[in-house]
Amino acid sequence: MARILLGVTGGIAAYKALDLVRLASAAGHSLRVIQTVNSQRFVGAASFAAITGGPVLTSEWERDPARGAFPDQPTPEHDPISHLELVRNADVFVIAPASANTIAKLASGLADNLLTSAALAASCPLILAPAMNHQMWQNGATQANVELLRRRSIRVVDPEVGSLASRNEWGSGRLARPEAILAAIEQIVPAGQRPWDGRRVLVTAGGTREPIDAVRFVGNRSSGRMGFALAEAAAARGADVTVIAANVDLPRHAQVAYLDVKTAAELEQAAREQFPSCDLLLMAAAVADFTAAEPAAGKLKKDGRTEFELTLTPTTDVLAELAKVRTEAQMLVGFAAEHGPGGLELARAKLAAKGLDLLVVNDVSDAEIGFESRSNEVTIVSAGADRHLPRADKLAIAGEILDAVDELTAERARTA
Ligand code: CTP
Repeated sequence: MARILLGVTGGIAAYKALDLVRLASAAGHSLRVIQTVNSQRFVGAASFAAITGGPVLTSEWERDPARGAFPDQPTPEHDPISHLELVRNADVFVIAPASANTIAKLASGLADNLLTSAALAASCPLILAPAMNHQMWQNGATQANVELLRRRSIRVVDPEVGSLASRNEWGSGRLARPEAILAAIEQIVPAGQRPWDGRRVLVTAGGTREPIDAVRFVGNRSSGRMGFALAEAAAARGADVTVIAANVDLPRHAQVAYLDVKTAAELEQAAREQFPSCDLLLMAAAVADFTAAEPAAGKLKKDGRTEFELTLTPTTDVLAELAKVRTEAQMLVGFAAEHGPGGLELARAKLAAKGLDLLVVNDVSDAEIGFESRSNEVTIVSAGADRHLPRADKLAIAGEILDAVDELTAERARTA
């Protein structure tokens, strides 16, 4: 866990800082945010405050209700000078997005607002993630400023190439992905201090496809988002993560290992190989329960048929099989998509029948959550009380699922 002070400057990319805050919080880090006045034209303080659980500061002249403490620290008795206390408590100060203007101020040591004053006062490592129009990024003045800052040991997470905010503009200047910024932060946090360092996590994600012939398959609508979010959140906590990805077309995390599979049989084989060496299995993939009995080698023709009968035979219940060979120290988390009322009852029965520690249930009758959606709303079913997680994006939900794993681990350690 690190204490991350995040500085947000003005620019279209300011709203993306929210994703960074979500990702870092889901990874178990403690955050405080300083915004420039201009950044608040793009994203409001209330959003940052809600996710971090701490007040957001903008000006040197306002009092900090938390007196410079991070959300994981007690509020001190005395009332310190806010920008000095905040950077003193921070393990790292990250400015994302860093505008051309703020970069220029930092290069010349200006301290004309809370953010730049805090940067000047910081003795912790400073990371900049620039974001701006590509002409501004390529401008000699900006490049010289960035070069100067690099020489002062300030780390720069380079912007990415892609389409930019103004219409039809393409080039270098897009804010780096939150995962890349978090990876730069975590390189600074000493190894061995992250909560899941040394833990081996196996995740299955996506949906299997069972071939009917050389071009057709029986599949499902699982996108893999939930599984990938779990992998990202576990990697951010320091775990060694392997994902068995069934037909997932999503960006991949640099610190995660991926094994691609297509069918339920391939997933089963990969899972059987990987499972013995994992401490935690997060089985988020939608695995086909049936597969075509006799897939055709070539492409099936219509041949004037008015009806087509397909015979399906059951696949292995991979999770239930793995549960039979588990050790006591391993933890297994299943995921169930249930439809409509009565889902939780079915889930409790499934938890027991499959021999699981936790079962994460979502109601797929609600179109706004589940399969292809970025958000989810789930209930975690265990031998104890159910825990309902209200609607949130999948990364935040992933963080809470990992918290539930932590709680169960702690409870077992207490009763062992
Ligand atoms: N699962 C599995 N192998 C299968 C089917 C499912 O490992 N062949 C896993 C899923 O990855 C998930 C859990 O089992 O973690 C629950 O899946 P679900 O399809 O809801 O369970 P089923 O037992 O198949 O029940 P249902 O009859 O409701 O489909």
